[in-house]
Amino acid sequence: APGAQEFIPPQADTTAELREAAAGCRGCELYRDASQTVFGRGDESARVVFVGEQPGDMEDQKGLPFVGPAGRLLRKAVDDAGLDPGQIYLTNAVKHFRFELRGKRRIHQTPDRVHIVACRPWLVAEFARLRPEIVVVLGATAAKALLGPTFRVTRQRGELLPWPASAQHPEDFREVPVDSAGRAADAPPARLLATIHPSAVLRADDQDTAYDGLVADLTLAARALA
Ligand code: URA
Ligand code: SF4
Repeated sequence: APGAQEFIPPQADTTAELREAAAGCRGCELYRDASQTVFGRGDESARVVFVGEQPGDMEDQKGLPFVGPAGRLLRKAVDDAGLDPGQIYLTNAVKHFRFELRGKRRIHQTPDRVHIVACRPWLVAEFARLRPEIVVVLGATAAKALLGPTFRVTRQRGELLPWPASAQHPEDFREVPVDSAGRAADAPPARLLATIHPSAVLRADDQDTAYDGLVADLTLAARALA
């Protein structure tokens, strides 16, 4: 598969322009079975960008990220952590829904490394336009995309981390602090904060404790921005 890079218009200044182009992405095979590309959404001047795994069944149908149960929980956690919901942008490491058909049901399948790598140029392009102060990495797939395969969310969550110079493919991140117009050579690179995925909160045996942990991690981001 060619990857997403050749579908990205370098002249695009905004995530809205990227979104338009991403509708036609064929950078990996996932576009074939999914309904549509689910690109990121939110404030163009967001201070915090949240990176999930991939759209779910409902997101695939609506064409918007985090509109299902996990999204509802995430928005509540954002509120409870004291983050301004008007200053966030929500996106995913992989922008098409990967699933397996069982009868008529579409069962979520975790994306493979090939999908994460193929789709990462969109994520990098979003960061380059948004220049967020903090990137919140939600769960293992987003962590693989941004921090490499050896990162363990369970052990390294809840810490503000410097932008990963040692990321798996550092060349992917070179352009991140600088947008396509060449602005922002002065803008510091974002810091990263890894935490549990909201879907994992919904699956936890003790949902209240898992939820409180998510809010506690997000509170760190809120404090860092205050
Ligand atoms: N889970 C994700 O990771 N992303 C979504 O958009 C929805 C659910
Ligand atoms: Fe393109 Fe990403 Fe969709 Fe693959 S998952 S087709 S790389 S947008």
